[in-house]
Amino acid sequence: MEKINNNLCRYKNYNFVNGFTTAEHIDSLQSFDIRDSDVLVVTYPKSGTIWTQQIIISICELDGGLNEYPNNLEQMPWLEYTKGREDFSLRPSPRFFTSHLTPALMPPGLKDKKAKIIYVMRNPKDNIVSYFHFNCNSTFMETPKSFDGFLEEYLSGKVGGSSWFDHIRVWHSKRDQYNILFLSYEDMVLDLKEVVTKICNFLGKSLSDAAIEQVVEKSTFNNMKKDSKANYEFLPKEAVKKDFMRKGKIGDWKNTFTAAQSQRVDQLLHERLGDMSLKFIWE
Ligand code: PPS
Repeated sequence: MEKINNNLCRYKNYNFVNGFTTAEHIDSLQSFDIRDSDVLVVTYPKSGTIWTQQIIISICELDGGLNEYPNNLEQMPWLEYTKGREDFSLRPSPRFFTSHLTPALMPPGLKDKKAKIIYVMRNPKDNIVSYFHFNCNSTFMETPKSFDGFLEEYLSGKVGGSSWFDHIRVWHSKRDQYNILFLSYEDMVLDLKEVVTKICNFLGKSLSDAAIEQVVEKSTFNNMKKDSKANYEFLPKEAVKKDFMRKGKIGDWKNTFTAAQSQRVDQLLHERLGDMSLKFIWE
């Protein structure tokens, strides 16, 4: 892995956090055995990952088919990280995984369209603000000197992960190769019940209306904030200084972006993804 700075290293066009994984491990995903019953959440960082984990786990719990793990992170571990990693081939089905990776780094077995992928996208301005605060509050990420400086790094793909633009484009453009449900963070905020119902249908679970309401209840921002299995407060305090569950809103970018910064994102969005029929909700 090629070192980028004290916190990030680059391998195969992807920026990994130092110490979280190895080139050997990323390469080993090419022979990772995917099962038809596997379910994955795939996101660009800060797009609603832990929220989607909570929804899927709550649905499967109510459906009666889930093995017990101490928290959502262990129930639905990241594919790409080696920290505390166990041999996933020993896990009983159904298995649940999380990933921020791009398709090129994913296990090729996903392409036979049997395992299920739920991809969540968030409008880039709120995504940037959420990512900025996350980097300010994590000891394993470089603390941004200013929002403007962070914005430049984000727009040029120099933050952890890949470029947001590339992540969105490549996952959408390869959608026919995967069994994938595309969702947006904004749709989840605006009508959580509808999204929970969509996820249920995609997973092939037929929950009663009352059970769907229970999943919605367990997955609201306020309830997740109190839920010690879901809110990532179980992470060591020396790694994350402040809440993972920060604001959970659409449109918070307006409190941070200048008009010029907003126009710059609009312009890049037009240049990089303008040919795709993506719809963004900004407030
Ligand atoms: S990570 O680090 O990539 O796993 O982060 P991720 O979970 O993708 O994104 C964190 C943001 O999601 C918000 N969040 C929620 N919003 C609304 N409702 C619920 N239930 C919820 N759960 C998590 C979280 O607050 C982060 O967004 P910001 O804007 O920073 O608040």
